[in-house]
Amino acid sequence: MMRFFWLLFPLLLTAEEDFISHYEYGQMLYENPRGVSCAQCHGESGEGRLIVAYEDEAGKQRLEGSDIRLDNLQSMILSVKKYHKIMPRYYLTHEEVEAIYDYLKVKNSMYIEKCKIEGTSKDNK
Ligand code: HEC
Repeated sequence: MMRFFWLLFPLLLTAEEDFISHYEYGQMLYENPRGVSCAQCHGESGEGRLIVAYEDEAGKQRLEGSDIRLDNLQSMILSVKKYHKIMPRYYLTHEEVEAIYDYLKVKNSMYIEKCKIEGTSKDNK
């Protein structure tokens, strides 16, 4: 019995590590993907934030990073590789964007559940 346990033990460890590292990997990528952090513009948890406020001839301007907590994986993959005016274009692999996506899903699970109940999830649109 004891021998059997020691045979399984490393497997149990790796299973646990895999789960943690997928989340941590996503967090690491979200906070520092190729040098420009998503968090800088989309907030610590993807809730969006004010990047800069300034004034020009048209009046007061606010540059905001959008709330991406309800974005689905497909739109995230497209956004990250697309050219935007403000957001940099990232050369992240599908797996890397998926890790970021999963990280945000886990981190915002309470908020996402709440939106589902209220019927405001983007996935339902
Ligand atoms: C320099 C600021 C900046 C950084 C850094 C940035 N974004 Fe964005 N992002 C924006 C702005 C502003 C928009 C909305 C307008 C646009 O399309 O440019 C946007 C749009 C998006 C969208 C489109 C969907 C929506 O609901 O608006 C997604 C998804 C997204 N960003 C994800 C990311 C991820 C993931 C990262 C990191 C890998 C990242 N962004 C880094 C500024 C940024």
